[in-house]
Amino acid sequence: MIKIGPSIICMDFSSMREELSHIERSGADFIHIDVMDGRFVPNLTLGPFLLKNISKLTKLPLDVHLMIEEPERSLEDYIEAGASSITVHAESTRHLQKVLRKIKDSGLKAGVSLNPSSPEELIRYAIDDIDQVLVMAVNPGFAGQSFIPSTFLKIHRLKNILPEDIDIMVDGGIDESTIGPCYKNGATSFVSGSFFFQHDDYRKAVEKLKNAI
Ligand code: DX5
Ligand code: ZN
Repeated sequence: MIKIGPSIICMDFSSMREELSHIERSGADFIHIDVMDGRFVPNLTLGPFLLKNISKLTKLPLDVHLMIEEPERSLEDYIEAGASSITVHAESTRHLQKVLRKIKDSGLKAGVSLNPSSPEELIRYAIDDIDQVLVMAVNPGFAGQSFIPSTFLKIHRLKNILPEDIDIMVDGGIDESTIGPCYKNGATSFVSGSFFFQHDDYRKAVEKLKNAI
């Protein structure tokens, strides 16, 4: 099943309640939450406090993308704040398998993300503890960047090494022209920031992305 999730760093936080309800009505399948620490990536966003408040305002699954150094230090806070799935970067921890295991043991879906220059081999021996792989099609840190074309090959290679039940997600630069080839190569879930939020009617954004596949 194809899934679309808006990346809410592009949302208007001054009307958070209305925005979240608009997203729920759009047919989006999950909400993607970008957590940035100003160290792993050169930008700062939100933390567990805001995540907890968001979780009170929506029933959609909250897919938390941690772009933070040593996620093991604050994992517990995000688990308690209401995340449905937590994705950590393979490049951000020396203890990837342990971190993924902890997420799964807490009853959440565990995800691992790869920066554009990171090879798929990085996750080979953690596969048993992974529910989803988030392939970065841009260097993490900001919305609105251009899709890096080598992502297609990485998705294709991941598809060959991963079991069927692991979801391949793509994050960064997703629009009507990039989503189709990602899907053809094996991706099934898609995060959309600027494309999604540039629509006045979010239903149209979901429709356009699904139709483009
Ligand atoms: C990038 C974030 C993405 C980003 C997507 O660091 O992880 O989720 O917000 O935004 P677009 O779709 O505009 O590339
Ligand atoms: Zn993200």
